[in-house]
Amino acid sequence: MSIDAVKRIGVVGSGAMGTQIAAVCALAGYPVKVQDIATESLERARQVLTEQLEKRVQKGKLSREQVDGAWSRLSWTTDLGEAVRDADYVIEAIVEKLDAKRELFARLDELAPAHAILATNSSTIVSSKIADATRRPENVCNMHFFNPVLVMELVEVVMNPQTSEDTADTAVELCRRIGKTPILLKKEISGFVANRLLMALFKEAMYLYEQGIADFKDIDLAATKALNHPMGPFTLMDFTGLDVNYYVMQQQYAETGDPAMKPPEILREKFERGEFGRKSGKGFYTYE
Ligand SMILES: NC(=O)c1ccc[n+]([C@@H]2O[C@H](COP(=O)([O-])OP(=O)(O)OC[C@H]3O[C@@H](n4cnc5c(N)ncnc54)[C@H](O)[C@@H]3O)[C@@H](O)[C@H]2O)c1
Repeated sequence: MSIDAVKRIGVVGSGAMGTQIAAVCALAGYPVKVQDIATESLERARQVLTEQLEKRVQKGKLSREQVDGAWSRLSWTTDLGEAVRDADYVIEAIVEKLDAKRELFARLDELAPAHAILATNSSTIVSSKIADATRRPENVCNMHFFNPVLVMELVEVVMNPQTSEDTADTAVELCRRIGKTPILLKKEISGFVANRLLMALFKEAMYLYEQGIADFKDIDLAATKALNHPMGPFTLMDFTGLDVNYYVMQQQYAETGDPAMKPPEILREKFERGEFGRKSGKGFYTYE
């Protein structure tokens, strides 16, 4: 299916990601139906999105007309059939559980038109683990957005071994049409590209610190003052949560068995002490 055949979009899951994915698609001119199993989640989504879009109008990032136009193209429902019956493209952003995603994709396969592309926004599950729950694995791919979707430009489109070139081309082109910058991964890999680069940086930073080469504050300075990164790796790890980083590395290690992927000792110690970073008041740095 070519990008021009994509007229309507369905988004499943109205959490942090699904809501903003729906918003960027609606802002780009697509009619979007958002489905969630929980009525409260749909209500919260509308409330939170109202505030987020209002802020962007105040900052001059969006005009009032753009925002009003987007709202007129957005609709919300708990009925999955209603959301995807006439969708040419469905983006899934539900809870990060393989079983739930497989069950959903099997239903999407029944309910969405046969030509529709079914994309998952999962941050860790590659689409080959989901595609075989459908009878259209060639129409299934990952479409990985970054949080917050209204602001972050990159989207990683990831092909599974059965994804057709046609599906990948359309997914990439859709990213462009909704104002994002796509990159295409022609093969699946755990963590995709951006987060792998980040994990490599985190691991090297922790290695240098553990070896006693430099203090973590100085390693942060090297990243900000020499490489022009907006934040040093230790500041960023504290910000995203040392528990989250520990789980991600643990999972990559479990999936690959590669000792180089094992979470560094310093990270394991902090995790076990409950020093999760900003959210717990202490990580590498100490917070008020
Ligand atoms: N949060 C992030 O930073 C981030 C970044 C990139 C990708 N992702 C991925 O996006 C997906 C969603 O993440 P999130 O942070 O928006 O989660 P979230 O918890 O904020 O929202 C998930 C929503 O899905 C709904 N839901 C659960 N099961 C459902 C089902 N069977 N059908 C319909 N709705 C269902 C829940 O009611 C909830 O509203 C996950 O796969 C996650 O890995 C998250």
